[in-house]
Amino acid sequence: MAEYARAISFVIDNQVVTIDFNSNNAIKPSTTVLNYLRSFETHKGVKEGCAEGDCGACTVVLAETDCRGNLEYKSFNSCLLFLPMLHGRQLITVENLAQEVNGKQQLHPVQQAMVEAGGSQCGYCTPGFIMSLFALYKKHRNPTRETIENALTGNLCRCTGYRPIIDAAAKACAGEDHDAFTKNSEMVIDLLNSINQNKQTLELKGRDQLYLKPFTLEEALRLRKKYPEALIVNGSTDAALLQTKKNIHLPQILDISAVNDLKFTVEDHRQLAIGAGVSLQEVLEFCQTRMPVLADMLAVFGSLQIRNLATLGGNTGSASPIGDSLPVLIASESKIRLADTEGWREMTVENFITGYRKTAIRPDEIITFIIIPKPRSGEIIKSYKISKRRDLDISSVSAGFKLKINKKGIIEKALLVYGGMAEMTKRASSAELFLTGKSWTRSNAEEAARLTENEFSPISDARAEAGTRKIMARNLLIKFYEETSEV
Ligand SMILES: Cc1cc2nc3c(=O)[nH]c(=O)nc-3n(C[C@H](O)[C@H](O)[C@H](O)COP(=O)(O)OP(=O)(O)OC[C@H]3O[C@@H](n4cnc5c(N)ncnc54)[C@H](O)[C@@H]3O)c2cc1C
Ligand code: FES
Ligand code: FES
Repeated sequence: MAEYARAISFVIDNQVVTIDFNSNNAIKPSTTVLNYLRSFETHKGVKEGCAEGDCGACTVVLAETDCRGNLEYKSFNSCLLFLPMLHGRQLITVENLAQEVNGKQQLHPVQQAMVEAGGSQCGYCTPGFIMSLFALYKKHRNPTRETIENALTGNLCRCTGYRPIIDAAAKACAGEDHDAFTKNSEMVIDLLNSINQNKQTLELKGRDQLYLKPFTLEEALRLRKKYPEALIVNGSTDAALLQTKKNIHLPQILDISAVNDLKFTVEDHRQLAIGAGVSLQEVLEFCQTRMPVLADMLAVFGSLQIRNLATLGGNTGSASPIGDSLPVLIASESKIRLADTEGWREMTVENFITGYRKTAIRPDEIITFIIIPKPRSGEIIKSYKISKRRDLDISSVSAGFKLKINKKGIIEKALLVYGGMAEMTKRASSAELFLTGKSWTRSNAEEAARLTENEFSPISDARAEAGTRKIMARNLLIKFYEETSEV
């Protein structure tokens, strides 16, 4: 019989805080970190703008020990974090940055730089920006303009304009990291280690809710079997919106975000295997040289805060028709591994997606990893995303295209996969059939593009009219030709 722990512990204000939901009726386990913080006089700097990960006003930084035992700092949207996701981590808010030195308050270098650059007007967005800048400061010295912009894509400002904020980032991160967090890191690591040495599954009961947080795959699968109705939560960037936006009560949650067995990346000469719990930012970094087509797509996925939280398992598991990784995974003929307490099975990602937000997963299974074949000689593969703005936006239309062309220049296999064109990610079969056995010429690409018109009956919505979507689908194929015809 498994032993359970009943309370969560994390570090805030350099102290360990423990929450026992069984004896605290004011909050339930799925209370968001944002709402929790806003209930304290001392941590009201964190702001709610959208409550759905889009504005960054609620940004906080979480620190945790990495595989070498050092602290790693990342920015997150606190409106998407459930409280148990803090377990074993340090929560840092804007109130924690300034330090008292010789009886005087000294701003953190990122705060000082924002003051000097005039990076704030009404100030509503400022705590969120400061926290994104702080995470940048802890990770990068002399960051490039691209790195700075990337760190700030998840923060919106309606009045100041971004130039002074970017200037502040460059200035603050130019020197050495000499802040109080570096000086206190040994003490924080000791506190976190004292929490993390206990790896008992958390069974948290509170206000009509059961929240389970296992630390091993074996335990996660056992709980999945015992509670098949429980909502699996990985990064929670989709799941949290059920609560914050749709007001749906979540009676049972199986939070697999701390299962280390799901957080691996490996490669051999043929393929990559990426654990379902690896964050999309880590997937992006891992794929940059190994699978650029996926890295390209993830570079325009949400924001850094979203990618720090969202996982590859979650993007596949949510089976959204506009899930950005899916066209690439299907075009690259990736496979998905599913496990239950008895064993495992594998299928193509294409077969895994069965309908609008529907998959072939069984109620006792968990996605454990994705296997992505590397492009072979003669294969060309590209990904595309069209959205109303470049960053932090959902796709209007997305695509993953792969052609296998033999030495005589004949297309042996074509995979043309579209997102945003149907109720699920879908291949353009007649265009694929048309191209197979032909050469990759402009006229053949144009004819295939024309054929995509009759393949799909897309909907009109806020992101695009149906007719516009058809034009986008056609043009993406022409773009693919233009970018690859010299290969
Ligand atoms: C502001 C914002 C921007 C976004 N931008 C994008 C974007 O640009 N492109 C895009 O595609 N999506 C985007 N999304 C949607 C979302 O971030 C992604 O779908 C994300 O990949 C989900 O991953 P997650 O780990 O957070 O999943 P979760 O929310 O934890 O889970 C999603 C679903 O998958 C299931 N699931 C998760 N892991 C497993 C597993 N291991 N086994 C079985 N089932 C599992 C869960 O039960 C749930 O049904 C955005 C969301 C927000 C809030
Ligand atoms: S409140 Fe807008 S991102 Fe969290
Ligand atoms: S300073 Fe007003 S929203 Fe940014």
